[in-house]
Amino acid sequence: MRSLLRIVESRTNVPLPPQPKMRIGVLASGNGSNFQELVDQVKAGQLPIKIATLIYNNPDAQVAARAAQAGITPVLLDHRQFTSREALDQAIVETLQTHKVELVVMAGWMRRVTEVLIHQFPDQILNIHPSLLPAFRGAKAIEQALDYGVKVAGCSVHLVRLEVDAGPIIAQAAVPVLEDDTYKTLAERIHQEEYKLLPQAVGWFAQGRVHIKGNRVAISE
Ligand code: GRF
Repeated sequence: MRSLLRIVESRTNVPLPPQPKMRIGVLASGNGSNFQELVDQVKAGQLPIKIATLIYNNPDAQVAARAAQAGITPVLLDHRQFTSREALDQAIVETLQTHKVELVVMAGWMRRVTEVLIHQFPDQILNIHPSLLPAFRGAKAIEQALDYGVKVAGCSVHLVRLEVDAGPIIAQAAVPVLEDDTYKTLAERIHQEEYKLLPQAVGWFAQGRVHIKGNRVAISE
């Protein structure tokens, strides 16, 4: 719909009235520094979205305090309270629908997702992963990169599919791996790129600029 409006606007040269901001739901499990960056960019007027809800699954996750601080009521859906992954995802879907979410952003969400969630938000779920996919999928991607001895590492934003850390790639950023890097120094370098990449990708969706054809994604002007 948003991309259609952009085409109408460019073909007719008639500016359309401002559209309501795209409503985003964020899923996070831990620290939430990527969530914080989204919050900060929205606040600074750099990202035309509305963060409608923040769902977290670990009661002690730092991200909850970040949300509360930003005036977003954090929603705890503790996976230990659900009998299956599907039951957790059903609760997530209901929360997202209650908040009229149009785009789901997994920003450090450490749970596998099921068809229950994916089916309700087709091509509308993004994940950020700290590697240059398809290398180093799964947990401990930065450790994997260091262990492997790669010279270039990075991060990827991709659409979520059932397979973990698979799905069409929206954007990637590379960083060098230095000889004296530790987990901490490399993670910090990758994080700095994540803070640019994720908001940029979310912004593209909000502007209706993302066009998905099979596994390939084009970003229009
Ligand atoms: C990020 O490195 C992201 O790529 C990965 O989990 C980490 C989350 O960090 N999926 P934070 O919670 O946003 O600080």
